[in-house]
Amino acid sequence: MKKAILFTLIIMMVLPFAGLFAEGQKDKGSDSIVIGANIYNFQDNFMNGVMKPVLESYAAELGAEIQIVDSEGQQAILNNQVDIFITKGVDVLAINLVDPASAQSVIDKAKKADIPLVLFNKEGTKEAMASYDKVWYVGTDSAESGIIQGQMMVADWKANPKMDKNGDGVVQYVMLKGEPGHPDAEARTRESVKAFTDAGIKVKQLALEADPNWSTQHGNDKMAAWLTSSFGKDIELVICNNDGMGFGAITAMKAAGVRLPIYSVDALDQALTHIAEGELDGTVLNDGANQAKATIDLAVNVAKGKAPTEGTNWTLTTDGSKAVRVAYVGVTPKNYQEFR
Ligand code: GAL
Ligand code: CA
Repeated sequence: MKKAILFTLIIMMVLPFAGLFAEGQKDKGSDSIVIGANIYNFQDNFMNGVMKPVLESYAAELGAEIQIVDSEGQQAILNNQVDIFITKGVDVLAINLVDPASAQSVIDKAKKADIPLVLFNKEGTKEAMASYDKVWYVGTDSAESGIIQGQMMVADWKANPKMDKNGDGVVQYVMLKGEPGHPDAEARTRESVKAFTDAGIKVKQLALEADPNWSTQHGNDKMAAWLTSSFGKDIELVICNNDGMGFGAITAMKAAGVRLPIYSVDALDQALTHIAEGELDGTVLNDGANQAKATIDLAVNVAKGKAPTEGTNWTLTTDGSKAVRVAYVGVTPKNYQEFR
C-alpha cells in the first residue's frame, strides 16, 4: 500500500518535466519554436477579428507554436503575462502593448531574460526601441491612414456642396478619436483634419471623444448624445478613427433617422457591407492580415537567431524605429468591391 502511494507521488513529481526533456532534445527548427503572444483586448474588433486569426493560422503554416493571451485592456495584466511567458521559457515574445507608454518596461523584461521581442500594433518610442538590440516593431505608418482618410473627405466635400449644410464654407465636424496617446489615434486625429486645412478649407470641431478600447458601444453612446445635444443639428461630418466606433455611430444615426457623412479606418468586412448599403462613405484598409504575417515572420526568424526579415519580402525602416510598416489603402463606394 505504502509503496503504491510513494510510486504515485514520484510519477506526479516527474511527469510535468517529461515534456521539457522531450523539448530539449529537438533541434531549433520552426517546429520547436514557441511564440508567447497577446492581444491588448479580445473585445477589439480589428485586433481580435482580423489580426488574431492570421497570427494563429500563419504561425501554424510556418510550423511554429503560438500562445495568445487576452490582456483585457489592462497593462498590469500584460506585465504578468510577459513574466509568465519568460518563466515558461518561450523562444520569442510577440506583444501588443495595452499602453504604448509602457513599451520600455516590457522591453526591459525581455532584455533581462535575453528573449527577442516583436512589438506589434502599438509602437514604442525610438528611445525605447534603441534600448535593446533584439526588439522590433510591426505596424503601419500611422499618419498615412489619416492622410488617406482626409483626402477622401476633402474630395467628397469639394464634389458635394450640400455637405456644407449651413453654407458657411466651414466643416462642422465631430470626432471619435480612439485611445489617447496611441500613435494611430493621435496621427489620424491630426492628419484627417489637416487635409482640409491644407486644401484651404476651414474646419470647426464641435466635439471630440476618446475611448481606450475603440469600441462600438462608445461610438453609439457618443453619437446618440451628440445628435440630441445643442449642436446636434449643426454636425456636417463624422470622423471616426476606426470602423468599430463608426459602426456604433451608424447605429445611433439610424435610430435617430439621420444620415450624416461618416468616414472611418480599418476596412473590416462589416464596414464594406455598410458602404454597400450606403451607410458609410469611406474607410481605410488597415492591412491586419499582412501585419500579422510580418509579426510571425520576424518572430520566427529572430527566434532562430536569423536576421529579422531574412527570406521575407518585408523591409525594416532605417530611421531608428526598427519597424516593418504595412501600407494603408483608401476604400470608397467606388472601389470597395475589390476588398470583399
Ligand atoms: C488600430 C486599429 C483600431 C484598434 C487599434 C488597437 O490600428 O485601427 O481599430 O484595433 O489599432 O490598438
Ligand atoms: Ca458648414
